[in-house]
Amino acid sequence: MTHQFKGDTMKTETLVNEALELLKSGIDDTAIIACSGGIDSTVAAILAHKAVGDLLHCVYVDTGLMRLGESEEVSSMFDEMGIQLKVVDASDRFFSSLEGVTDPEDKRKAIGEQFIRVFEEEQREVGAKYLVQGTIAPDWIESGGGERDVIKSHHNVGGIPDDIDLSIVEPLRDFYKDEVRAIARHLGIASSERQPFPGPGLAVRVLGDVTRERADACRIACDIVERRIMEAAQSGLCDLPWQYFAALLPVRSVGVHGDARVHGETVVVRAVTSLDGMSARYSPIPHDVLSGISTEITNSLKGHVNRVVYDITHKPPGTIEWE
Ligand code: XMP
Repeated sequence: MTHQFKGDTMKTETLVNEALELLKSGIDDTAIIACSGGIDSTVAAILAHKAVGDLLHCVYVDTGLMRLGESEEVSSMFDEMGIQLKVVDASDRFFSSLEGVTDPEDKRKAIGEQFIRVFEEEQREVGAKYLVQGTIAPDWIESGGGERDVIKSHHNVGGIPDDIDLSIVEPLRDFYKDEVRAIARHLGIASSERQPFPGPGLAVRVLGDVTRERADACRIACDIVERRIMEAAQSGLCDLPWQYFAALLPVRSVGVHGDARVHGETVVVRAVTSLDGMSARYSPIPHDVLSGISTEITNSLKGHVNRVVYDITHKPPGTIEWE
């Protein structure tokens, strides 16, 4: 299947109208959508809200594993759009379900299960009959060409099992990412150019035990990496990588803090260029920028992290995330 979209305004309007028609004809009762703040679910939510108004209930599940300030940003984005968003703080149950879980796939499973449980409770509360999802064309084409029930492992988190008692409506099902981005711009969505963030969130960037304290440390480190690399790119010191973040490693090394020796953990900085995440090359971030990142991380996480390293592995053989 060839796909050509040149970002034409007329075409974007046609796509929006197609999606609105599908939503209006498909939904005649209460509907629910899980909003992550990502572009696909945000566009789907805004279109569905335009189509069916208050029949739609938008739910954001705060897992405690989001980026710094992310929950607040998503809330204010929906506020600005005039759409009510219910924020469910489920962080306690997410951290409890991750207790003692260190295997990456087990983490994904635990998070997926919790997410579904929280979402089912919300569905029962509003008596939803329809589920709106932000599935886009590559999600199902790459998963087996039209088999609606085959979902990539990457899409399981935030994804809902097939046996759930809801009719699924997918207004973006035939659209590609560039089309969804064009619709997002057309609708004035602020988050349309954000870097990708994995569904399981910081759980796959906190290697080993995912405690609240370690997630907080990783969140701070990720924020420092993101901010400093964005600033460097804006100043022309480097290209903006496709993805750039920190992961917290359960590797302890000896460091010095004042007069004391500290046995602290390690942060790895990861920045890659990629087209679609399938393969990637590590980004040549200038040493001065890395040095600033290292100093700010060790200062901000004194006593917890005393060593920062840079990952120079391409994908393959590495993956982008460490888990
Ligand atoms: P990897 O680590 O597989 O990542 O090279 C490729 C892209 O996918 C993201 N990623 C995920 N996204 N759920 C997601 O929604 C996941 O479980 C997951 N694991 C990795 C990763 O951030 C990168 O953009």
